[in-house]
Amino acid sequence: MRQLVIGFLFTGLLCVICGGQVWAQDMDELWSNSVVKLRAQDAKRGQLFDQGNYAMFIHWGLYAQLANKVDDKTYYGIGEWIMNPRMAGIPVEEYKKLAKDFNPEKFDAKAIVKIAKDAGMKYIIITAKHHDGFAMYHSKANDFNVVDATEWNKDPMKDLSLACREAGLGFGFYYSHNQDWTFPGGNGGPKVDAEGNEATFDDYFVKKCLPQVEEITSQYGKIELVWFDTPGKMPKKYVQQLVDVVRKNQPDALVSGRAGHNLGDYQTLGDMEVPLRRVEGMWESVDTTNDSWAYAWYDNFWKSPKEILHRLTACVARGGTYMLNIGPRGDGSVPQRAIDSLKTAGDWIKRYPQVVYATGPSPWDHAMPWGDVTSKENELFLTVFDWPTSGELCLPGLKTQVKSAQLLNGNESTSIDVTTKNGWTKLMLPIQAPEKIASVIQLSFATKPQADSTWGIDPEHETEIAAEFASVEMAQKSEKRWMEKFGEWKRTTHVHGWKTVESDSETPTVEGKAIWEVDVIEPGDYNVELTYAGEGRLVWAVAIENGESIQNQQNSSPNYQKFPIGWIKFPQPGRYRVCVSLKEGDTEKASLKAIHFRPAY
Ligand code: GLC
Repeated sequence: MRQLVIGFLFTGLLCVICGGQVWAQDMDELWSNSVVKLRAQDAKRGQLFDQGNYAMFIHWGLYAQLANKVDDKTYYGIGEWIMNPRMAGIPVEEYKKLAKDFNPEKFDAKAIVKIAKDAGMKYIIITAKHHDGFAMYHSKANDFNVVDATEWNKDPMKDLSLACREAGLGFGFYYSHNQDWTFPGGNGGPKVDAEGNEATFDDYFVKKCLPQVEEITSQYGKIELVWFDTPGKMPKKYVQQLVDVVRKNQPDALVSGRAGHNLGDYQTLGDMEVPLRRVEGMWESVDTTNDSWAYAWYDNFWKSPKEILHRLTACVARGGTYMLNIGPRGDGSVPQRAIDSLKTAGDWIKRYPQVVYATGPSPWDHAMPWGDVTSKENELFLTVFDWPTSGELCLPGLKTQVKSAQLLNGNESTSIDVTTKNGWTKLMLPIQAPEKIASVIQLSFATKPQADSTWGIDPEHETEIAAEFASVEMAQKSEKRWMEKFGEWKRTTHVHGWKTVESDSETPTVEGKAIWEVDVIEPGDYNVELTYAGEGRLVWAVAIENGESIQNQQNSSPNYQKFPIGWIKFPQPGRYRVCVSLKEGDTEKASLKAIHFRPAY
């Protein structure tokens, strides 16, 4: 007789659990394999962040109605900076006039909340005031705001905060506390006030910043977090006062990692950065559904559902939270492609909530060539984006014996066979993946699973090993950040500064090296490629320590590009050190980003 268990949820919704299957009246999500439906209001401090793992960022303001076009000229880059001299350089008084035309008649708070819920996101953080100084809420502290300065004359944050509460989502604000380009004394703003008197940062802080943070933390109900941004050189005393206001008015709210002076509650990574290696502590990655935070008319480089899930599962697998941005248009509508991608990814999450919610990091400190791994107590969830055609999925370095393995198909599951070979774990899979985007395998263990994070060279999928995982000799390894378009940030760890000690009568020439420790399950030939940037033709050598060494000359490019080097043989299964060195070419400009291995046939 199946055990019938009646579980009452926080919201008093009736949920029936019968023999492990779950039926529920109107229960729209599982947070993990236990049935927990949590309303934001009931969440403990930081619970939505730390367990929800997935949130919506919204950049919406006057800049959205320009959509990166001013006087028929398009400015490429992040749209919320359109006023700034590094974009269109719009004078303050001219920019402020935009408010009279701001009429977002298509803004629909409930529709936006539905987008977030359908996406599987647990809270929404929206721009209350961005660097341009325009408040998207009714501010009594300053009349350059969406109610007092526009014909529309409505407070969208009242509607949005209420719609979030009704839907059980968390709600919070982005607030640019240091930069204010339209208020005298704000960082980047006018240096004199309307009367021509010199304006100090203190004037801005006392007259606008502090009272507005007081307003947004006291007039919109429970706040999940306040996302301060670009603290620059803002003196600590000011940041501390703002944090104190948040603590006073919203004791359960988090303060973002960009408050300044390490006064935030967690770490916020660089823009659009999804880490390749585990990050300890509480942290978030902030990303956007295309390339601009605010709406930009030309920006149609949307992330697909697969790309969204890849980056979301990577953040959870590295131990963090993923906050993904949408940029509504000036009329308040949301680009349909963003909605569709988020919804499709959200439908997948609804089938596999245990992969994302209340889930912890992978026991490996990096991703796998075929996908990624998240964990919960004695379970691992393998999210497989690239399904093996060989019928075998290989897992290197698992040090804990697998008790059972299930291939999931929504709420259904099928046991799969597990074998081990040369220290690897092999999962026998059907040729057809159950899912189109990503399929999930659940591994159960008697204890919390442990793993050795040495990179395994997959016998089927291309294995890309970033420079982040290399050690170096007579070369440098460091992080490099750059902007593709203005504000569109990229970063990589790279090996550069290659040194050479020329040979003499007793010693051969020694070149600088990048060295990767790898493990091989299937011996044989592997095709080696290198991703690098540089100038002119370069001669690279790839050598297996005490093994084969190959060398080739290839061209280079100022942008990172993958070039073939050739086949190299791993004669036996086991562990190897692979060394890459620059034999000839411009050692100053040669920047190595990654090495790639693919089975040669
Ligand atoms: C940067 C940009 C800002 C954007 C933020 C999003 O700080 O200056 O415009 O809101 O990144 O993370």
